[in-house]
Amino acid sequence: MKNIVLIGFMGTGKTSTGRLLARRLGRPFIDVDERLELMAGQSIRQIFANQGEDFFRRLEQDVVAQVSRYTNTVIATGGGVVERSANVKRLRRNGVLIALTATVDDILVRTAGRNSRPLLQRDDPRAAVENLLARRAPLYAHAEFSVDTSGRTPQQVCDHVIQLLRTGGYLSGHG
Ligand code: S3P
Repeated sequence: MKNIVLIGFMGTGKTSTGRLLARRLGRPFIDVDERLELMAGQSIRQIFANQGEDFFRRLEQDVVAQVSRYTNTVIATGGGVVERSANVKRLRRNGVLIALTATVDDILVRTAGRNSRPLLQRDDPRAAVENLLARRAPLYAHAEFSVDTSGRTPQQVCDHVIQLLRTGGYLSGHG
């Protein structure tokens, strides 16, 4: 069975939806950011502060190379995973890609008050989100499916993803 890979901007619910999805389908769940932090022995915030974004992207690429060898797994990625085309190519080899989207307003609400996302620690987070989104939206659009998460709970998003996967023939009748 192919992996189910969630891509999309920060705050679109990849981790919470992925966790639910894995539980519902009885599959293992892997969060790329979580695995990266474990591997590095530092939080993402510390990695950005100490070694910088390029170093983070190299670690991210290593983790993606590891996890894209798996099968039958639900994988939640970090929002910037699409910045390197090698990542998308690898994830696609064994997986079906699902892009989660949300409005800028929802992204800002969901990511507010957290300092775990270095790329949004700016005087003007709205401008930061808009600029990054403008660059990345065409990359997220390479996914097989896209699901708008605005105003929806992870449970509702999970239901919708399952329905899309079933219709697309990616799941057997049981899940
Ligand atoms: C990033 C998104 C974050 C994390 C890092 C960089 C990005 O993951 O990987 O802060 O470049 O969009 P989430 O999308 O899970 O917040």
